[in-house]
Amino acid sequence: MRLIIAVDGPAAAGKGTLAKSLAASLRLPHLDTGLLYRAVARQMILAGLDPSVDDGERTAQALQPADLLRDDLRVPDIDRGASSVATQPPVRAALLKRQREFATESGAVIDGRDIGTVVFPDADLKFFVTASAGVRALRRYQQLHGASARDEAALSALTAEIEARDRKDAERPVSPLRQADDAVLVETDSMDAGAVLAHALAIVRERFPL
Ligand code: DC
Repeated sequence: MRLIIAVDGPAAAGKGTLAKSLAASLRLPHLDTGLLYRAVARQMILAGLDPSVDDGERTAQALQPADLLRDDLRVPDIDRGASSVATQPPVRAALLKRQREFATESGAVIDGRDIGTVVFPDADLKFFVTASAGVRALRRYQQLHGASARDEAALSALTAEIEARDRKDAERPVSPLRQADDAVLVETDSMDAGAVLAHALAIVRERFPL
């Protein structure tokens, strides 16, 4: 089936994990659109530009698929830079075209912040994946430091950072983070990745029986 499935939500809610596993289960391509914004920020920093000041449109247009495959796109500098370039309307416009081209031919599971509201408002199915900031901070922390690690001071700093990024993503005037009216809300506070996937797959199968 050539379904287009949108998966949106705030940072570290589990939307990337869900989108990836859902795509594999349904044999659809997966696009993590956060990587596009991250790659733009990275190229700008490499070129000596400041993502929070300079215009990234040309960088966004010049982006190559291989630029998304780098393993240094998830570092704090790029977290902040991506969040800044994502506020620039010309950057969003340049990346919009790429996202639509990616999914239109073969269908896809696409995750981001504005997939169900702006990129594919007519997606076949939309999920909005969320969890409380404290739970998201703990997940991010344990990803970095191991499942049994726990440091309260580091965790509260991370929670504050996640809340600041949420605010920035939700309050920007262009394509803010927002749940689409017709999106299925998935709250993952007390669900692990396997439970989230099973829940989402059940909804896909109910809406699109084979
Ligand atoms: O999902 P992520 O943390 O990799 O996203 C990085 C930044 O890009 C984040 O601050 C929000 C922004 N972003 C966006 O504005 N729209 C998207 N569709 C995806 C990401």
